Amino acid sequence: MRIGLACDHGGYPLKDTVRNALAKSGSEVMDLGTDDAASVDYPDFAFKAVKALMQGQCDRIVLICGTGIGMSICANRIPGVRATLCHNEFDARMSRQHNDSNCLVLGSRTTGTAVAEDIVTIWLKTEFEGGRHQTRLEKIESLAQAFITHHQR
Ligand code: RB5
Repeated sequence: MRIGLACDHGGYPLKDTVRNALAKSGSEVMDLGTDDAASVDYPDFAFKAVKALMQGQCDRIVLICGTGIGMSICANRIPGVRATLCHNEFDARMSRQHNDSNCLVLGSRTTGTAVAEDIVTIWLKTEFEGGRHQTRLEKIESLAQAFITHHQR
């Protein structure tokens, strides 16, 4: 699996841990920055990774910021992105089984390295269950589109 990996300065301290966990699980990692602890704006990196995902340059993406919240807000603005902020192994498993997560989000200030490694490993290997969950995912896209068409002028 090809995984796009992006972070801001807040997420940078966790980036090596995540990259190593991805590689250990057999993924090919596409590093989309940032590359040091200098202050940057997380939307720049969130949308860079989302673009790579939407263009098919990678199969899924992982985003890291301080809390994971800003990256989640950005990524979930784009139709087709299912960004899931995970704090533990249960979140990671459910985000795949029920939500078909294609964008794992982590907070480097909220999640320790050992837990982050486990989250990455579980998120990579857990399959989507489909069925009623697929129906619900389709509703997200259709209801959001209907909202934009009919209620936002
Ligand atoms: C950067 O200080 C911090 O605001 C950012 O990494 C993230 O946590 C935003 O949601």
